[in-house]
Amino acid sequence: MEIQYHHNLSAEDYNRLRHSAGWVDLTLEQAKEGLKNSAYVIAASCKGEVIGMARCLSDGGYVRFIADVVVLPEYQGCGIGRHLVENILQEIRKTKKDDEYISINLMAAKGKEAFYEKFGFAVRPSDQSGAGLTLNLEQIK
Ligand SMILES: CC(C)(COP(=O)(O)OP(=O)(O)OC[C@H]1O[C@@H](n2cnc3c(N)ncnc32)[C@H](O)[C@@H]1OP(=O)(O)O)[C@@H](O)C(=O)NCCC(=O)NCCS
Repeated sequence: MEIQYHHNLSAEDYNRLRHSAGWVDLTLEQAKEGLKNSAYVIAASCKGEVIGMARCLSDGGYVRFIADVVVLPEYQGCGIGRHLVENILQEIRKTKKDDEYISINLMAAKGKEAFYEKFGFAVRPSDQSGAGLTLNLEQIK
């Protein structure tokens, strides 16, 4: 299976990949803006079809956030997810200056924590850190 890694991800493919994971559907406008404002986007294609993606958000200072790591179900378990995350970590390392402190964060989907632990991410809460928190605006309408 030959996989190409590249940075050309359309909003339509982005939404299709999100949909495959059962995540909330975004409007096309949201998807476009999200991609445009990402610090870094990496996609995987096989035979011309986009089959995986991951992206990184940045405040330009010390905070990085990895989001939307997804591989189509039929391509999972072949090392593509690992390649996508490693590529983002490599890019962050490449752009980091020697004296800079960088914090890389993400919110794991349920049951996917162990996938990220393989890269060195630590699950929260821990002895040192509190839990990560999230707010869905729909729930407080
Ligand atoms: C999570 C996901 C991106 C992993 O992608 P993948 O291409 O299947 O993963 P890989 O084949 O690259 O696996 C890399 C390693 O992680 C391990 N791994 C993969 N999924 C795992 C899981 N759910 N729990 C624990 N380990 C996992 C693999 O066994 C492999 O280990 P190894 O390198 O020691 O052999 C993919 O399952 C997916 O897209 N899921 C649906 C969307 C989702 O939940 N994304 C995570 C959002 S936070």
